[in-house]
Amino acid sequence: MTIDEIKSQIASLTAELNHHNHCYYVLNAPEISDRQFDLKLQELADLENWYPDLMLPNSPTQKVGSDLKQDFAQATGKWESAIPVTQASDVTKDFEQVAHRFRMLSLSNTYSEEEIVEFHNRTCKLLAPEQPEYVCELKFDGLAISLTYRRGQLVRAVTRGDGAKGDDVTNNIRTIKTIPLQLHGDFPDDFDVRGEIFMPLNAFETLNQQRLSEGLQPFANPRNAAAGSLKMQNPAEVEKRRLDAFFYFLSGNDLPFDNHFDNVQAARAWGFKVSDYIETCRDVNAVFDYINRWNTQRHELPFETDGIVIKVNNYRQQEILGNTAKSPRWAIAYKFKAEEVETQLLSVDFQVGRTGVVTPVANLTPVQLSGTTVKRASLHNADIIRSLDIHYDDCVYVEKGGEIIPKITGVNILKRSPESQPIAFITDCPECGTALERAEGEAGFYCPSEYACPPQMKGKIEHFISRKAMNIESLGEGKTDMLFDNNLVKKTSDLYALKYEQLFGLEKIIDQQTDKPRKISFKEKTAENILKGIENSKNAPFERVLFALGIRYVGETVAKKLALHFKNMTALMDADEEILKQADEVGDKIAASLTNYFADSRNIAMIEELRAAGLHFEINDDNLPQKASDILNGKNIVISGVFRHHSRDEYKSIIEAHGGKNVSSISKNTTFVLAGDNMGPAKYETAQTLQIPIWNEEEFLKYIDNI
Ligand code: IVH
Repeated sequence: MTIDEIKSQIASLTAELNHHNHCYYVLNAPEISDRQFDLKLQELADLENWYPDLMLPNSPTQKVGSDLKQDFAQATGKWESAIPVTQASDVTKDFEQVAHRFRMLSLSNTYSEEEIVEFHNRTCKLLAPEQPEYVCELKFDGLAISLTYRRGQLVRAVTRGDGAKGDDVTNNIRTIKTIPLQLHGDFPDDFDVRGEIFMPLNAFETLNQQRLSEGLQPFANPRNAAAGSLKMQNPAEVEKRRLDAFFYFLSGNDLPFDNHFDNVQAARAWGFKVSDYIETCRDVNAVFDYINRWNTQRHELPFETDGIVIKVNNYRQQEILGNTAKSPRWAIAYKFKAEEVETQLLSVDFQVGRTGVVTPVANLTPVQLSGTTVKRASLHNADIIRSLDIHYDDCVYVEKGGEIIPKITGVNILKRSPESQPIAFITDCPECGTALERAEGEAGFYCPSEYACPPQMKGKIEHFISRKAMNIESLGEGKTDMLFDNNLVKKTSDLYALKYEQLFGLEKIIDQQTDKPRKISFKEKTAENILKGIENSKNAPFERVLFALGIRYVGETVAKKLALHFKNMTALMDADEEILKQADEVGDKIAASLTNYFADSRNIAMIEELRAAGLHFEINDDNLPQKASDILNGKNIVISGVFRHHSRDEYKSIIEAHGGKNVSSISKNTTFVLAGDNMGPAKYETAQTLQIPIWNEEEFLKYIDNI
């Protein structure tokens, strides 16, 4: 081919492929098969590889997955049909991941007033001779959300995610009363609005009281509570959480005004909740007035703010200033310093966690801090106690970070009485009396008595029932504690001996962290659900049972590898360290942990009880990816991107079941790349450079089937 012929071939392939992308992504009406498309794409990629200078700027080889969809969506306005990026990806199992139409940038932060002055000077310099006008707003402490409105209707709500794509939480967002589903007035036809989802303080307090009374762990702060609520799968439950939202940023091509302030005021008129505390500031002194005012007034607000956001108002000026990779240069967040108070240390409790780690917690003379009464503060570990040089009865400084338990940051030595003694870390477990140990290089002491120390025994049961293990949803954390405290379930195998009569009417007095003790008892339905959940768990496959046992270092992936390699529990128990290490991903540490676990007769006895209860202790061949082929023998396959038909882990198993090897990075030894949506651009480039073929899911599955 002459250069001219190559040029024209590249041009015609580019046009043709762009046309097919349009048919596929926008019209939902492909004219050619995926295979034909990929062959053409490969042909174009090969030509471009040889003649990179001839590549056209709109080449379809330069965009992968979501980019393509996004481009077509933007060009045509067909956003709804084009937006899905994945079905159920492994980033989050539960929400669809979708690309943001406008990248969700973050803000640069500062705690210092000098840096605000620097921001101002920089801004003035870049805008000279013009002067900036600023807008000051509260910085709401919640979760960022981006809403898309078309023809005045809410069509999609996406969390920030990584800024490029996030979770589609539209159904949950629709339950928030202050978020308009239909706008009124003169709104633009198509725009995105960004805001913060938060939980008002009174809703947060009610929720935590309720959780405590049900024996559940309270949320650490309103932000966590809002995040936890927004990720719930049932919108009806989300509705009960009384979430709220403020909106503070608009993106779109036909916004009515040329500045931020007027547009958010307009947004208020269309139905959005916009904070009343947004102000324009003509100069930097007005900005400091705003900061100083809110530094104290914020404690009177019915929601949490963690700072002030300062934005250049005019859009043209914003454009001149531009963005860095992460944040706009036209805005900065000033964060409030954590408030600090002085109070007296009364005593120190040593709490044993579910993994056996001992945490010292200080009891304090109650003191008001950032709107709440503080009675306890974490002292973290022995090293922190030593570095603070904290003594009994000391006057200490307490600071509230992001968590519900504040921390002690220092001691007022001037107020120390000469007789007071340094706090000594305990030597024995306060729960079971066993001598504490400290692992080499670790800051924390822990109780080694994992089978006789109540919090650790509870921790094992909690792990066993958890979602990724036996998934016994009807038994939340509070309920397993209740069964434990009533001597019904002391170890996981006891679950399978539970009877209805033991559960129905079971009572617990709850006084955990509240002043009002409450009695709860299991009703008929609760008892039935618990038993049903336990019965269903007997269907869990061997790898989940293995993971549920809670053997140190045997996480989900290792459990899968072990199950696939050894096929059944007996073979696994009989294996010595050398044999164990023949399994994928098993090294010295895991092998030693497994042999230790199986050397303990208590574990063996429990495994036998679980086996007798009917749990799966061998792999079910029906669940295995179709085995018995060596079609991929000797092939090194890299997996990249997000898939539709199987998860990445499933593809790994499929590759292995067909004799292939899954490798993590592309080299000249790679046979092909199995690519889903959003294949990493770096991987794509390496594959192109090394001329490694890229297969899509369908091609791969067809190949596997055609044996
Ligand atoms: S403006 C392009 N305004 O703070 C800039 N953000 O730390 C868009 N936030 O990710 C953000 N209150 O989630 C803006 N009044 C406010 C805000 C605010 C809270 C959040 C937002 C952002 C984070 C940055």
